Amino acid sequence: MDVLSITITLLVLMSVGTITETLPIQPGAFIRPPSWWPSPSGHFAFGFYPHGQADVFFVAIWLICGNNKTVVWTARRDDPPVTSDAKLQLTKDGKLVLSDEQGIEKYIAYNTSAKASSASMLDSGNFVLYNNNSNVIWQSFDYPTDTLLGGQSLLNGYQLVSNTSQKNHSSGRFCLKMQHDGNLVLYPVDTTDTRMDAYWAADTWRLGFRTCLYLNQTAGLLQIQNGSDISTTILNSDSSLPNNGSGIIHRATLNYDGIFRLYAHFNNGIIQTVASWPKEANECQVKGYCGFNSYCTFNDEQPACNCLPGYDFIHPNDHSLGCNRTFQKEDCSKEKYGATFYQIKLLEKIVWEDTPYFKDKMSQDACSSTCMADCGCDAAFYDSESCMKAKLPLRYLRRKMESEMFFGDDTKTLLLKVGNSLKNGFGNDNPAQNQPPPIKTTSNRTTVKIIVITSVFSLLLCSTLVISSHYMYKIRILQYKRLMETGNLGLNEEVTLRRFSYSELKRATNNFKQKLGKGSFGAVYKGELNKGRRLIAVKRLEKLVEDGEREFQAEMRAIGKTHHKNLVHLLGFCAEDSKRLLVYEYMPNGSLGNLIFGANSQSLKRPEWGERVRIAIEIAKGISISMKSVRHQSFIVT
Ligand SMILES: *[C@@H]1O[C@H](CO)[C@@H](O)[C@H](O)[C@H]1NC(C)=O
Ligand SMILES: *[C@@H]1O[C@H](CO)[C@@H](O)[C@H](O)[C@H]1NC(C)=O
Ligand SMILES: *[C@@H]1O[C@H](CO)[C@@H](O)[C@H](O)[C@H]1NC(C)=O
Ligand SMILES: *[C@@H]1O[C@H](CO)[C@@H](O)[C@H](O)[C@H]1NC(C)=O
Ligand SMILES: *[C@@H]1O[C@H](CO)[C@@H](O)[C@H](O)[C@H]1NC(C)=O
Ligand SMILES: *[C@@H]1O[C@H](CO)[C@@H](O)[C@H](O)[C@H]1NC(C)=O
Ligand SMILES: *[C@@H]1O[C@H](CO)[C@@H](O)[C@H](O)[C@H]1NC(C)=O
Ligand SMILES: *[C@@H]1O[C@H](CO)[C@@H](O)[C@H](O)[C@H]1NC(C)=O
Ligand SMILES: *[C@@H]1O[C@H](CO)[C@@H](O)[C@H](O)[C@H]1NC(C)=O
Repeated sequence: MDVLSITITLLVLMSVGTITETLPIQPGAFIRPPSWWPSPSGHFAFGFYPHGQADVFFVAIWLICGNNKTVVWTARRDDPPVTSDAKLQLTKDGKLVLSDEQGIEKYIAYNTSAKASSASMLDSGNFVLYNNNSNVIWQSFDYPTDTLLGGQSLLNGYQLVSNTSQKNHSSGRFCLKMQHDGNLVLYPVDTTDTRMDAYWAADTWRLGFRTCLYLNQTAGLLQIQNGSDISTTILNSDSSLPNNGSGIIHRATLNYDGIFRLYAHFNNGIIQTVASWPKEANECQVKGYCGFNSYCTFNDEQPACNCLPGYDFIHPNDHSLGCNRTFQKEDCSKEKYGATFYQIKLLEKIVWEDTPYFKDKMSQDACSSTCMADCGCDAAFYDSESCMKAKLPLRYLRRKMESEMFFGDDTKTLLLKVGNSLKNGFGNDNPAQNQPPPIKTTSNRTTVKIIVITSVFSLLLCSTLVISSHYMYKIRILQYKRLMETGNLGLNEEVTLRRFSYSELKRATNNFKQKLGKGSFGAVYKGELNKGRRLIAVKRLEKLVEDGEREFQAEMRAIGKTHHKNLVHLLGFCAEDSKRLLVYEYMPNGSLGNLIFGANSQSLKRPEWGERVRIAIEIAKGISISMKSVRHQSFIVT
C-alpha cells in the first residue's frame, strides 16, 4: 500500500513536471516509457530516453540545461532499444530490472553480495543503490560509458568508449584508456593499443598503476591523480570560464568523432566547449577516423573520407567504414608479373602513420619499380629519400592541406599500385566530390622503359659480378671479402635488401640472446628493429668459408630476389669480414617442424591431414618460384 502510493505520487508529479523534492526510490517502484526519475535539482534524470523519431527508448541518465538534453550514461548500450511496453523496476529483492514487452528481464543495476533497499538519482548525475544501512552498493559512476561528470573518476584499468554516431548511443570506434602503466591514451578500438595506434597520450606513464582521471567539479578541471594525491598533472591548465561553482555543470565526453572534449553547461541551456584532446580537435588527426584504404581530408572545413584511386566505398552511406579494391589482384606466379597488370598512381601530401614492411633509401622511380615488381607490395610511400613499402589494408592515412603545412612538411608521396583493368584513374570518385584530388599517373610506357633499362643494366652488372666471382673462386683468393665490399651481390634488379652492420644486428638481437632454432648452417635469433616496432629473425651462419658462403649466396639468390607469399621474406644481410648473417621477417608461429612434430605445441593445434596436404602444396609452390629464379641465375653463369 505504502509503496503503491509513493509510486502513484511519483508518476503524478512527473507527468505534471513540477517535482521539487524527490523521495528515494523504494523496492517495488517502477516506471514505464516515457517516464523518468529526476534528481532533486531537476538537472539530471534517470529513465527512458527516446531513441530517434520512432517510439522506442533506452535506459539512460541525461543532463537537462534549459531545453537542451544531453545523455551522459546509457544502460546496456549495445542492446536494442525497448518499446513503450517496457518496465523499469527496483524489485523487492533489491535489483534494478528492465522487462521488455515480452516480459524478458534484464538487470540494469545490482550487487551480487548486497540487496538494495532504496535508490536515488543524485544531483551530481550519479544514480546509486543503497543497502539498508545507507551504504552505496552500486553507482553508475563506477560504469562510465562515454562521459565523465564532475566528481567522477575514470579508474585505473577503465576506459570510455565513444558513441557510434550522434544519433546512435551504442559502442563506437574510439576509446580513452586509463592504462595500468598510468598513461591516459586515445586509441581506435580493436587495435593493438601500442604507440603506433595512439593518436593522443597524456604521457603520464611515470605515475604507474595508482593513477586515475578525475573531473574536479568545483574547479572544472580534468586531473590525472596519483592515488589520492590531487596535486598532480592538470590536463587543461587554463580554463577561461568564470568558475566559482555557480551552477555550471562540467562534462567530459569522448565524442563519436574520436575527440575527447570538456564541456560547460550553463543554467540557461548554453553549452560551451572548454577544451579538447587532441588539442586542435582536427578529426583527420584521429587515427581510424577513416577506415581502411581511405584517407581523411577537409572539404569545406568538414572532415571527409575519400577512397584511394582504384578503391570504392564498402558502404556507400557510411564512408567511415573504408574502401575495397575494385580491381583484381594478380597471381604472383604469373609470367611478366608487374607492369603488364599494374600501373602506379601518385597521391601527394599524404601523412601515413603506420609501419612499412620494408624501408630503404632510393629514388622515387626506383621506389615505384621495386613496388611494381614485388608481389607483396600494394603501395609505397616516398618521402624525398626513403622508400617504404606497405601491404593492404592501408590505414591511418590523411591528406594535408596547404594551410596545415606551417609545422614543416611531414608528408609523403603515395605510390599506389592499381590494376590496369581499371577503366579510368578515378574508379572511386563520387560525383558529389567537386574537387578530385590531383592524381598523376606515370605513363605505362615510361614505367616499362624504366624497368627494361634497369633490368638490362642490372643484368650487365649481374654477369660482371658473377664472372668476376667465378674468376675469384677459381684462384681462391679472398673468396668473398672483396665481392662483399662492393656492397652488391648482383642478386637484385631492385636494391631491396638492406645491408646491416654486425654491431647493428648484435644490438637488435640483444647480443644474440634469444635463440629461435637451429638450421644446418647456423642458429636463428630473435631481434627487433625500429625500437621494437619490427620483429626480425637473424640467422648467423657458423660453418664459415665454403659451405657457409655457398649457403649464404644461395639463400640471398633464391629468396632475396623473389617475393612470394609462401616464402619467408628476406629483409637484409650482414657481410663483415668473415661474419655472415641473414635477416628475415619474424614468423611469430615458429617453424613448421615445430608445428607438426613439436612436443611443446600445446598452444597451436597440430594440423589436420587436409591442412597438411595444403601446406605441402604451398611449400611446393614456394620452391618452384625460388627454383625459377635460381635457374635464371645459373643460366647467366653457364
Ligand atoms: C539489513 O539487511 C540484512 C540482511 O540483508 C539484515 O541482516 C540486517 O538486519 C538489516 N539491517 C537493518 C538495520 O535492517
Ligand atoms: C557490493 O556491495 C558491497 C557492500 O555490501 C561493496 O563492498 C561492494 O563494493 C559492492 N560491489 C560493487 C561491484 O559495487
Ligand atoms: C547503432 O550502431 C550499431 C553498431 O554500429 C548498430 O548495430 C545499430 O543497428 C545502430 N542502431 C541504430 C538504431 O541505428
Ligand atoms: C550519444 O548518443 C546519444 C543517443 O543517441 C546522444 O544523445 C548523445 O548526444 C551522443 N553523445 C555523443 C557524444 O555524441
Ligand atoms: C605516487 O604516489 C605514491 C604513493 O602515494 C608515491 O610513492 C609515488 O612517488 C608517487 N609517484 C609520483 C610520480 O609522484
Ligand atoms: C578541485 O581543484 C581545486 C583546485 O585545484 C582544489 O583546490 C580542490 O581541492 C579540488 N577538489 C577535489 C575534490 O579534488
Ligand atoms: C560567479 O561568477 C559569476 C560571473 O563571474 C557571477 O555573476 C556570480 O555572482 C558568481 N557567483 C558566486 C557565488 O560567486
Ligand atoms: C542548446 O545548446 C546549443 C549548443 O550550445 C545552443 O546553441 C542552444 O541555444 C541551446 N538551446 C537552448 C534552448 O538553450
Ligand atoms: C572487401 O574485399 C574483401 C577482400 O577482397 C572481401 O573479403 C570483402 O567481402 C569485401 N567487402 C565488401 C563489403 O565488399
